Amino acid sequence: MHHARLTIHPDFVVGPVRRGTFGTFVEHLGRCVYTGIFEPGHPTADDQGFRGDVLALVKELGVSTVRYPGGNFVSGYRWEDGIGPVEDRPLRLDLAWHSTEPNTFGLNEFMAWTKASGTEAMMAVNLGTRGIQETLDVLEYSNGKGDTHHAALRREHGVEEPHGVTFWCLGNEMDGKWQLGAKTAREYGRLASETARGMRQMYPDLTLVACGSSGSDMPTFGTWEREVLEECFDEVDLISAHAYYRIEDGDLGSFLASAQDMDHFIDAVSATADSVAIAKKSSKRVHISFDEWNVWYHDLDSPTIPKGDDWPVAPPLEEDNYSVADAVVVGNLLITLLRHTDRVHSASQAQLVNAIAPITTEPGGAAWRQTIFHPFALTAAHARGEVLRVAVDAPSYDNARFGQSALVDAVATYDRESGEVVVFAVNRATEDSTRLELDLASLGELSLIEAVTYANDDPFWRASKDTEADVLPAPNASATVTDGALAVDLPAVSWSMIRLGGASS
Ligand code: AHR
Repeated sequence: MHHARLTIHPDFVVGPVRRGTFGTFVEHLGRCVYTGIFEPGHPTADDQGFRGDVLALVKELGVSTVRYPGGNFVSGYRWEDGIGPVEDRPLRLDLAWHSTEPNTFGLNEFMAWTKASGTEAMMAVNLGTRGIQETLDVLEYSNGKGDTHHAALRREHGVEEPHGVTFWCLGNEMDGKWQLGAKTAREYGRLASETARGMRQMYPDLTLVACGSSGSDMPTFGTWEREVLEECFDEVDLISAHAYYRIEDGDLGSFLASAQDMDHFIDAVSATADSVAIAKKSSKRVHISFDEWNVWYHDLDSPTIPKGDDWPVAPPLEEDNYSVADAVVVGNLLITLLRHTDRVHSASQAQLVNAIAPITTEPGGAAWRQTIFHPFALTAAHARGEVLRVAVDAPSYDNARFGQSALVDAVATYDRESGEVVVFAVNRATEDSTRLELDLASLGELSLIEAVTYANDDPFWRASKDTEADVLPAPNASATVTDGALAVDLPAVSWSMIRLGGASS
C-alpha cells in the first residue's frame, strides 16, 4: 500500500468550473453521424432521424458543446452541399476519410440535433480548400435575420429562426501535412485574421478559435502558436490544442501519466500566447480551446481508412474499444482540464459516437457505453462551483516517457452554494493500492456523501454490448471521514470521485 496526502483550501481558487469543459465532437467520420447520431428508420429514431437511444446516452454523458462538422473532414467540405431539399444534395468524395459523403445530414439537421440533445453548437469552417467568402456565407445562412440572400435561403429551407451560433473554429489542424490545404503559420495566421475580421463585421461578439498545433509532438509546436497569434491575436479569443494518447509498447506506467503531457501542453501554449500579448503591449489574454482530446489507437501502419477505388458511405472507422486503463487516463485528462480552468475555457472530447468515442452503436441495433463514458459522465455531473488548487504529496514512479510521475493526481471542486466539495483522483500505481488522506479542517464540518471508484482486477477489461454493465463505477467502501480527515484507498489503476457535503463559505 502506498500513501499520499492532499491539501486543499477554499481560498486557493483556480477559476470557475466551466460547462464548456464537457464538450465533445461530431465529425463526418466513419459512423459518427450516419448510424451514429442519425439513422432514419432505426427503431428509436424520431421523425428527424435522430436516434433516441443515442440522444439518451448523450444526455446521460452530460455533454455541453459539440464541435461540428470536422476535423479533417471540414477542410474539404462545401457547407452548401448539406442544405436544402435532401434529394437535391450531391454525393461527394470525402478525401479526409476516403469515403463517400451522402450529405443527407448537414447544418440544419445538426442544429436541430443540438436542440434535441440540449447541447450547444461549436461550428468549424473550411479554411483548407475555401476561405473568407464561404465562411461569411455560412455565418449569414446560420445567423442572418434580414432578407439578404443566405438568410432568406435558410428560411426557404424551412428554418425561420436564425440558429444564433456564436462559437466558431477557424479551420482545423492547419499545421498538419495530412490536412487538405495545410498552411504555414504565417499563411494561416493571416487568413484566420482576415476571416475573423469579416465575421466580426457581421457579428462583433462571436467567440473565435484559431488553430493551434495538432499535437505537442509537432515539429512546429510553439513556433506555430507564436507566429499564428502574431498574425491574428487581436481578432481571436481562443487558440486550439489537440492531443491523443495511447499505450505504446505495452508501457502502462507511461500511459497512465499521459496527463503530464497535457499539463505541459497547456502551460506551453499559455506561455506562448502570453509572450505574444507582452510583445504587443496588450493586456488581452488568448485562452485555450482544447477541442480534440482522448485516448485513440489510430494505427498509422494499418489504418482502417479505405483505399483505392473503395469509397464507402459511413464505413466503420476508428472504432476503438476502450479498456478500464483507458478510462482512468480519460478521467485523469479531465482532472488536468479542470486544473487549468483559468486557461482552458473550452474542451471537446473527440469524438462522441462510434469513432474514437464513449458511445458505440450497432446499425439498426443497440447503443452502449464504452469504459471511457463513466469518468466523463460523473465528472460532468458533479464538478460544480469553483476549481480548487490541490497540493498532492505522493510518491513518484519511474517511467520511460516522463522519467518520473506522481502516483496520484487529483483536483477538487467546491460549490460554495451547496457546500459540496468533490475530489477527483487517479491512482497510477499498476500493482498496489494507495491510501489517500485529506485534512478537511479548512473546509469546516464535512461528511461523506459518496465515494465512487472505477477499477477492475484486469485493467485491460473492455466493455461490449452485452457486458457493458459488468464493470461499472462502484461505491468505495474504504472511504471514511473521521476527526476532520478523509481517508480512502484507491485501488491500482483506478479513477475515483469522492463527494463531501456540509461545508459553508
Ligand atoms: O478526431 C479525429 C481526427 O483527428 C480529426 O479529424 C482531426 O482533426 C485529428 O487529426
